[in-house]
Amino acid sequence: MIRRLEELLKEALEELKAASTPDLVLQAKGKYVGRKGGIASFLKELGALPPEERKSAGEAINRVKAEIETGIDRLLDGFKSSDRDEKLKKERVDITLPGRRIVSGRLHPVTQVMDEIEDIFLGLGFDIAVGPEVEIDYYNFEALNFPSDHPARDMQDTFFVGGDVLLRTHTSSVQPRVMEASRPPLRVIAPGTVYRKDSDITHSPMFHQVEGFMVDSRITFSDLKGTLAHFLKSLFGPKTGVRFRPSFFPFTEPSAEVDIGCVICRGSGCRVCKGTGWLEILGAGMIHPNVFRAVKYDPESVTGFAFGLGVERIAMLKFGIDDLRLLFENDLRFLKQF
Ligand code: DAH
Repeated sequence: MIRRLEELLKEALEELKAASTPDLVLQAKGKYVGRKGGIASFLKELGALPPEERKSAGEAINRVKAEIETGIDRLLDGFKSSDRDEKLKKERVDITLPGRRIVSGRLHPVTQVMDEIEDIFLGLGFDIAVGPEVEIDYYNFEALNFPSDHPARDMQDTFFVGGDVLLRTHTSSVQPRVMEASRPPLRVIAPGTVYRKDSDITHSPMFHQVEGFMVDSRITFSDLKGTLAHFLKSLFGPKTGVRFRPSFFPFTEPSAEVDIGCVICRGSGCRVCKGTGWLEILGAGMIHPNVFRAVKYDPESVTGFAFGLGVERIAMLKFGIDDLRLLFENDLRFLKQF
């Protein structure tokens, strides 16, 4: 019996060795260790053996059975893992491929400067106000003490929409709107878009301004000087020179034009400052009594200062841009530099 068992084992192992698919292995499994397989028929013979031989014969059968089963399991595992290997190979991700770059946008230089200006004044306790870009003559001119024959009302500068309606030519129009709607003390800046019939390397028909004003019972020219000096030094650096020159605006008295030391040549004289060492940067002054009268404030009991600046001009000086139109051509090669 032992000899026949060894033969069965040999036969089974050979058949398994030749089995090239899981199906063939399972077929062999049925044939040798299945319920009606070779091993089962050996077990049936056990009963016919003399009792003293049964034990060792039983052990031999179990050993052969275990050996065949081990062979089967190993083969089936092999098929399973080669299946998995193939799957892994097929689904392999090539991590050496260069990734797709996520392009991030950036803020337009005008927006960057606008944000910076707002931050400085927010730090001084100013509020931000906005007004309409499509404005009426009253707020853009009349309430700001523009005499009816003032040249700024001329068709040359203003885009008229029809009747009294126009595109605001400056953010000063927000001044009477805010004052009309609230009482002093006021500390306000009004950033926004303005429009003028103008177009060359330093003028665009659409551009941006920030208006600022402060109104209270005892605001003086010193408050104006201190506020603007702090603002300009924050924006252009602590060593920036600041000077005030007498000027004229209908809505301020006295009025001033404010210069900073040239940021290009630092005062020695260059093309940008036309050899003067100074750059005109904003207009300012003490709010005219007629403006207070227009908004029903008593010019005997309140005073205030106001200023207005062009954002594009500041962006050009800060970033060294020599043609204003570059800011609006939307050439990404240009815009990516900031
Ligand atoms: N509105 C003026 C302009 O557009 C700028 C300006 C000058 C505003 C003097 C002011 C000021 O508030 O006091 O040119």
